[in-house]
Amino acid sequence: MKPFAGRLARIEPFHVMDILARARAMEAQGRSIIHMEIGEPDFPTAPGIVQAGIAALQAGHTHYTPSLGLPALRAAIAASYPADVRPDPARVVVTPGASGALQLIFAALVNPGDQVLMADPGYPCNRHFVRLFEGEPVSVPVDDATTYQLNADLIRRHWTARTVAVLLASPSNPTGTLIETGEMAEIVRTVEQLGGVLIVDEIYHGLVYANEAVTAIAHSPEVFVVNSFSKYYGMTGWRLGWLVAPPAYIPAIDKLAQNIFLASSTVAQHAALAAFTPAVQEVLAQRRDIFRERRDYLLPALRELGFRVPVVPQGAFYLYADASRFTDDSQAFALDLLERIGVAITPGLDFGSYRAAQHVRFSYATTLENLHEGVSRLRKYLGRI
Ligand SMILES: Cc1ncc(COP(=O)(O)O)c(C=O)c1O
Repeated sequence: MKPFAGRLARIEPFHVMDILARARAMEAQGRSIIHMEIGEPDFPTAPGIVQAGIAALQAGHTHYTPSLGLPALRAAIAASYPADVRPDPARVVVTPGASGALQLIFAALVNPGDQVLMADPGYPCNRHFVRLFEGEPVSVPVDDATTYQLNADLIRRHWTARTVAVLLASPSNPTGTLIETGEMAEIVRTVEQLGGVLIVDEIYHGLVYANEAVTAIAHSPEVFVVNSFSKYYGMTGWRLGWLVAPPAYIPAIDKLAQNIFLASSTVAQHAALAAFTPAVQEVLAQRRDIFRERRDYLLPALRELGFRVPVVPQGAFYLYADASRFTDDSQAFALDLLERIGVAITPGLDFGSYRAAQHVRFSYATTLENLHEGVSRLRKYLGRI
C-alpha cells in the first residue's frame, strides 16, 4: 500500500466514537444506556418537511440543481432573516450541511501555512477543515472569563502576520454560550482593522433560549455566516446547510461548489422549502421550548452533583462541565461512567486540549425522562467515588 498523504496524521478521530461504539455494543447485550453524548436532535424531521421530500421524489425532482442551490430555497433562506438585516438571495449559497459551507469557505480563503484563529474548546472538525487545505488552525484557550468565546482582545493578541481568518461559533459547541451582539460588533471591527476575514458559525442560532440571537451579518456584509438545516430544523441526515458570503466571493464559491459537490441534495432542498411554512415553524418552536425545559432541568441538577458549569449556556443542547472534582482524566471518567452505570457522555478531549482532561460535555438531546434517569445514576455513582 502507498503511504497516506501527510495531512492524515494531523487529522484526529472523534474520541466519542469509541464511547458510542462501546455504548451500542453494551445495548446489543441488553444493557440500558442513557445517551448524553449525541450531537443531534432526538426528534425525527418534522412531518411537513418529510412530506415535502416524498412529494419532491414523486414529482421527479431527482436531477442536479444549480451549484449555488435552488433559487426558491436561496430566496426562502434569505427571507428567514429579519427584514432589517435580510441578505440579497444572491449572497446565499446552499451547501451539503454546515460542513460543506465551511469547506467551501476555507477552500476559498486558506493558502498553505495561513493561520485561522478559533476557540479551544470548540467544534473539532473546524481545525481539520483548515488542515485539509494545508492551513494552520490556531486554537486559542478560552474559559468562563470570556464565556468560552474569543473576544476582540484575544483576537488581537493571537493575530500574526500569517493570520487570515477567525472562526467563531455562537452559540458554541460544546459550551452553548453566545457572543453578545455588542461584543460581536467589536470583533467584526477588529478583524476588519486587522485585514482578516470573520467567519461565524450560526448553526445553533435557532436554538437560543432567551432573546433572539442577532446574526453577525447585521454588523457587516463582509462577514461569512454559516448555518444549517441540521440542528434547529432537525434534518441532520438530509445533509443540507447554507452560507451567506460577501457578494464579491460568490463567483469563486460557485466555481468551487461546481467542482467539489456539483450541488447539494435535490430532494433535501425541496424538502427544506417546507421548513419555512407556518405549520413546520410551529413544530420547531415547540421543540425549542422542550430543549429549554431540558436545559433548565439538567443545568442545576449537574451543578448540585458537583460539576462546575460557570456560565449559563444560552443555546444549543450541550452543557460543558468542569468535572475536576471527580477526575483529571475525562476520557477514563467517561468510559468508567459508561461501563458502571450506562451513562454515555463526551470527554473534553474531543473539543481541544485546553483543560480537556478536566471537562466533559453532556448533551440534552434526549428525553427529560432519560435525563432524570441519567442524573439519578450519576448521583449514585458519584456518591461512591
Ligand atoms: C458548531 C458546529 N458546526 C458545524 C457542524 C456540522 O453540521 P452539519 O450537519 O450542518 O454539517 C456541527 C455539527 O455538530 C457543529 O456542532
